Amino acid sequence: MHKISLHPQGPQLSRIIVGAWRWTNESAPQIEQLIQTSLDKGITAFDHADIYGNYSCEENFGNVLRSNPSLRNNLQLITKFGIKLVSEKRPEHKIKHYDTSASHIKWSVENSLKSLATDRIDLLLIHRPDPLLNPEEVAEAFSALKQQGKVLHFGVSNFTQAQFEMLQSYMPFPLVTNQIELSLFRNEPLFNGDTDVMMKHHIRPLAWSPLGGGKFFEDERIKELMNRLCVKYGISAMQLLLAWLLKHPSGVLPILGTTKPERILEGADSVNIDLDRQHWFELLRAVNGRDVA
Ligand SMILES: NC(=O)c1ccc[n+]([C@@H]2O[C@H](COP(=O)([O-])OP(=O)(O)OC[C@H]3O[C@@H](n4cnc5c(N)ncnc54)[C@H](OP(=O)(O)O)[C@@H]3O)[C@@H](O)[C@H]2O)c1
Repeated sequence: MHKISLHPQGPQLSRIIVGAWRWTNESAPQIEQLIQTSLDKGITAFDHADIYGNYSCEENFGNVLRSNPSLRNNLQLITKFGIKLVSEKRPEHKIKHYDTSASHIKWSVENSLKSLATDRIDLLLIHRPDPLLNPEEVAEAFSALKQQGKVLHFGVSNFTQAQFEMLQSYMPFPLVTNQIELSLFRNEPLFNGDTDVMMKHHIRPLAWSPLGGGKFFEDERIKELMNRLCVKYGISAMQLLLAWLLKHPSGVLPILGTTKPERILEGADSVNIDLDRQHWFELLRAVNGRDVA
């Protein structure tokens, strides 16, 4: 699989990313198999957050790297910080809240480095927009981490255009992505300016829940059309949904959320599909329930 640069200054990631959010009940050998299957197919980028699996997914993934240290140089690690969950693992959190203070950024990065058994995070994202975010403080903390080589690139997730542009205006280097919910079923960002603003900044979106979280495979609005197009192209429904996203000129990088190695193989092959423009609009019409204006 080819790699794609999120920004002209990097990082280079595989066009398809694999996310660890749902890897909560998988054993170490199963996680190792998911990682190895991805790498064998050229999927080298993995998406995490400190909170996934109630603060356990990073460490479970890190345990695989700890026992196979040579894997680290073959993959890129994305992780997020900024949400504080109420959890028995964090008894000091009395309420779910956000924290983008410099001290939490530093603490969270050290913790993720340790959990993931690595000396560097390829891409660090602010998980959600924090109403108490102080942009000067964030820019300073990010700059220090970059200078120390602990984090190579920075971005955000679930930010509005205004929130992205505000933070970018304080940063001494480019934020390289906004990771957003984006799929055929959540196609508003293609029309409300979200992806356009990323294109204006020459960065690419990372799409979470690219298959709508797996809930739409039996959706009556599109079932028949999907079946027809799958037969026409000789592909699966999952590949059709990914091809729909990959066609967008912003160069979307879908993050697969599967827990099954065979679905990673299936997803990886979607990069070779070129969906016809009219089929793209037919799928859009079926989901939105109307023709474009
Ligand atoms: N930044 C954020 O706020 C945020 C929020 C949510 C997620 N994320 C990231 O995005 C990643 C992907 O999100 P997601 O898991 O919602 O993505 P997704 O790929 O849209 O959904 C994955 C779900 O779809 C199911 N699925 C896949 N193919 C299927 C098929 N052919 N038929 C039926 N079900 C199928 C999977 O089940 P199987 O396991 O059985 O294959 C899994 O439960 C996460 O891992 C995380 O890294 C980020």
